[in-house]
Amino acid sequence: MNMADQTADEARVTVPLGARAYDIVIGPGLIGRAGAEITARLPGVRTAIVTDENVAAHYLAPLQDSLREASIKSTAVILPAGEKTKRFDHVMQVCEDVLDARLERGDAVLALGGGVIGDLTGFVAGIVRRGMRFVQIPTSLLAQVDSSVGGKTGINTAHGKNLVGVFHQPALVLADTGVLDTLSDREFRAGYAEMVKYGLIDRPDFFAWLEGHWRDVFAGGPARVRAIAQSCQAKADVVAADEHEHGHRALLNLGHTFGHALEAATGYDGKRLVHGEGVAIGTVLAHQFSARLNLASPDDAQRVAAHFQAVGLPTRIADIEGVLPPPDILMNHIAQDKKVKKGKLTFILTRGIGQSFVADDVPSSEVLSFLKEKHPQ
Ligand SMILES: NC(=O)c1ccc[n+]([C@@H]2O[C@H](COP(=O)([O-])OP(=O)(O)OC[C@H]3O[C@@H](n4cnc5c(N)ncnc54)[C@H](O)[C@@H]3O)[C@@H](O)[C@H]2O)c1
Ligand SMILES: [Zn+2]
Repeated sequence: MNMADQTADEARVTVPLGARAYDIVIGPGLIGRAGAEITARLPGVRTAIVTDENVAAHYLAPLQDSLREASIKSTAVILPAGEKTKRFDHVMQVCEDVLDARLERGDAVLALGGGVIGDLTGFVAGIVRRGMRFVQIPTSLLAQVDSSVGGKTGINTAHGKNLVGVFHQPALVLADTGVLDTLSDREFRAGYAEMVKYGLIDRPDFFAWLEGHWRDVFAGGPARVRAIAQSCQAKADVVAADEHEHGHRALLNLGHTFGHALEAATGYDGKRLVHGEGVAIGTVLAHQFSARLNLASPDDAQRVAAHFQAVGLPTRIADIEGVLPPPDILMNHIAQDKKVKKGKLTFILTRGIGQSFVADDVPSSEVLSFLKEKHPQ
């Protein structure tokens, strides 16, 4: 690494996976330097950029310019924006486009966008020619702190979210923190929920720091870079310990079992609920559920809810607009979620702030009566 490239407000985190180790570079202006960063690691590579129409409008041309300056050939595929894009027909289309561009196994697919683009593109890279290289250029906060790191890729099916996919690690992650300025406030807050999640899993000091500094993180500058880097470090630590989710990595699903059920219940309609909002509500529910099981103090659930409320995130099922299906249908969504093993529900529960753990024998009757209590009907 050329230290001259580093600026005071840039951070680097390595995901230590042996021969497949890779860097996450975090800081402003990275799209402008993407060509140089990619050439340094993947010399001679040709590329296909996959992006969505919102992100393309702002950042496709700057990325193409940066690649051109580094003599990297590229082609571009622009998909519709939104969660509904994570489906098979788009995967097929992108596979054909990548093959049309005559990219070989050693070439790279570049995911320029949020988690939707990252998950779909990573899946394509994982299966075309039995595994191509790929680079994540995450443009949403959620993607920068979570989905671009760790190699989980995939799409949704009629049965639920992320049910089809592969583990496929990127060769590089370039998180340009400047691009977050064009992200809507709502999407920024949604990504922030995942950031808070790391504090609540096992970094109580980080959670406390966020409670005190969230305004600086929202404002941008060094606090934002620092918080993103801390989040990437937290994720990298978990991924390094348990790449394929045999145990510990499941902690990253804190708030997601409830959250995914709520997303499914709203038909993945991003106008009603985006992923990070589902995670915020789900995380509060996970803390309340833990309190109900006498594992944690209700004060902790209250503290988590208070922080999400302070930043403007939803915290209750009742905060979702429109009519929701009844508790037993929510329960079906939970049972359908992939965190079910041999009929027992696996939940991430907590003993307090930063003390989450994997519980794999949660009785579904308890979950159902809890949902009946929390359902706004
Ligand atoms: N693979 C993983 O480990 C992992 C982890 C967490 C979440 N996810 C997945 O990530 C997805 C959610 O990701 P997301 O929240 O980024 O959603 P997204 O990709 O839909 O992006 C959110 C919205 O913001 C727009 N956008 C993105 N960057 C922008 C920018 N810089 N300026 C303006 N607009 C911008 C997008 O076009 C989209 O409309 C879900 O499908 C979830 O399952 C995956
Ligand atoms: Zn998530």
